[in-house]
Amino acid sequence: MSIEEKSNNSNILSTIEDNPELMISRKNDHISICETKDVESLGENFSQYFFTPEALPEFHFNEVNTSQKFLGQTFSLPILITGMTGGVAKGQEINETLALVAQKYNIPMGLGSQKMMLSDSKFQKLFDVRKVAPHVFLIGNLGAVSLNYGIKTEDIQRLIDKLQLNAFALHLNALQECIQPEGERNFSNLLNKIENIVKTISVPLIIKEVGSGISPETFKKLVSVGVASVDVGGKGGTSWGYIEGLRSQNDGQRLGELFRNWGMRTDESLLACSRLKKELGYNIPLVATGGMRNGLQVAKAVALGATMAGVGLPLFRAAISNENGSTPLETVEKELQFFQKALSITMFCSGARTLKELSSRIAGVTKC
Ligand SMILES: Cc1cc2nc3c(=O)[nH]c(=O)nc-3n(C[C@H](O)[C@H](O)[C@H](O)COP(=O)(O)O)c2cc1C
Repeated sequence: MSIEEKSNNSNILSTIEDNPELMISRKNDHISICETKDVESLGENFSQYFFTPEALPEFHFNEVNTSQKFLGQTFSLPILITGMTGGVAKGQEINETLALVAQKYNIPMGLGSQKMMLSDSKFQKLFDVRKVAPHVFLIGNLGAVSLNYGIKTEDIQRLIDKLQLNAFALHLNALQECIQPEGERNFSNLLNKIENIVKTISVPLIIKEVGSGISPETFKKLVSVGVASVDVGGKGGTSWGYIEGLRSQNDGQRLGELFRNWGMRTDESLLACSRLKKELGYNIPLVATGGMRNGLQVAKAVALGATMAGVGLPLFRAAISNENGSTPLETVEKELQFFQKALSITMFCSGARTLKELSSRIAGVTKC
């Protein structure tokens, strides 16, 4: 059956009893496309910002402190491995590798959407990373639009209990659903449903975009219903409109090309939300995901108001690689150490002993 034929089925059946075969083939498509193709939107984030160098830092490099508080826990780095995969054999391997590293380096990690687990509990073992990383701070994930296609609060709580999740993320992905052949496009009344989830589940709720960014107006609405954190998920990294175009036939591919660079850049979205946060006195942590490719960008994101920076594609590719005789685990560690080193060097060379101090060292275009 073609994706289009399957999608006709799923549009009728679009509930949590949805066709698991379709979800498996979608997960595998996403993994192989992200592994092998150029899937990013254009433009480097944060390139117009720079730190004032400090020639005389007056402290030892070893005193640089990269620790950050997020959702009630202190992490060693302001880096979050953003939710990506799971539910298929390859996804399970990737998640286990990422979870081992996240636990070792004391950083939080997201899982990819667990919708499959709600269609059949046999998929649980393909998301369960607790057996390899019992102490990792783990964030669950579903599409917010699923709340209009049969998923209920009890289902989310079931995922939280079964996978022993520390937080839950609902993703907003309107563009992806529009271009995805089998996309779910009824986004009506979701804010109310999000509010209900916030009030009912036992862990903090994060709302995340997946590459189009969050405007300050939408940020305000999300804050008004009490979400615990917002990930601005902006343009500049993995482009889900484009990826779904690559999975499509006919005009889907052209739409994917057309919308490859849709949205607000991660830096624009972060700065706009961060300004509003200051102006209205919100006390809600922002996450900056989308095109974060090194520790210098992480430092800039933190300086401009992010509590955490989310990293996806570079760690996904490291977790799937088998190059240079290194194991995927070693490659992920190496990549994360690259982020860590560049972040520490940025802090030292701009005279910031702590992450808080970074904000007074950044210059460039107007900051918040
Ligand atoms: C292979 C892959 C699968 C993904 N699956 C999900 C998902 O299930 N749920 C979600 O919220 N985001 C998903 N994402 C999006 C990421 O969480 C992130 O928002 C996006 O990749 C941008 O970050 P990047 O530019 O660092 O990759 C996925 C990303 C990748 C690379």
